[in-house]
Amino acid sequence: MRKKLVAGNWKMHGALQQNTALLAHITAAASGMACEIAVCPPYPYLAQAQSALAGSVVALGAQSVSEHACGAFTGEVSASMLAEFGCRYVLLGHSERRGLFGETDAIVAVKFEAAQKAGLLPVLCLGETLGERESGNTMRVIARQLSAVLDRLGVAAMASAVVAYEPVWAIGTGVTASPAQAQEVHAAIRAQVAVLDAGVAEGLRILYGGSVKPQNAVELFGQSDIDGGLIGGAALVADDFLKICLAAN
Ligand code: 13P
Repeated sequence: MRKKLVAGNWKMHGALQQNTALLAHITAAASGMACEIAVCPPYPYLAQAQSALAGSVVALGAQSVSEHACGAFTGEVSASMLAEFGCRYVLLGHSERRGLFGETDAIVAVKFEAAQKAGLLPVLCLGETLGERESGNTMRVIARQLSAVLDRLGVAAMASAVVAYEPVWAIGTGVTASPAQAQEVHAAIRAQVAVLDAGVAEGLRILYGGSVKPQNAVELFGQSDIDGGLIGGAALVADDFLKICLAAN
């Protein structure tokens, strides 16, 4: 039985005071939850979140990481730095990173390796654009994105990772994938891993992300291959985020 995970991706939102209130709300409610909970604030707030989450069951994650260990890479942050600030997870290959910052499948795979070397659990984000879905290419795109990591690191790497299916057309749009649409892709992701290792596939947590709200979370999380959610907008509102966590209970 896979333990569900609900992770909040704050994206480029937050401020010290606002974060304090949000984290206090979440930590106060989290201990009674059956699912695992994580928050992924922007880099400058990792230290704040690390101390706010100390002693709580809420895990910390980052939103990206450099593929390099150290060196002359102005503006970048390494995986070992994230580990030092208490990060358990790191999001990789988010569609905003792929689309706005030119992260290719190959770069995402190198970042995945760097994250695992530092002891972080990658949350590998996969997703098709609207055009790719409408042209019938959803499964091809997802398979290609996943293969980049499997080909580089082998299936064993997926034993210490999480996958998030985030259709690009559902992110921040208020249009969510239907539970059946999401389940179909999640099952395909698990099947692709199962061809290589059935045990790893069975244990792999596959989150859904894209306009998850308290109103649609129960039905989405009720699908057999949906193991929780990666939450954007609703992760910034404590009540909504906690309702979504409850839906995963
Ligand atoms: P929204 O929940 O705002 O659609 O964002 C989803 C997302 O991109 C999480 O990583």
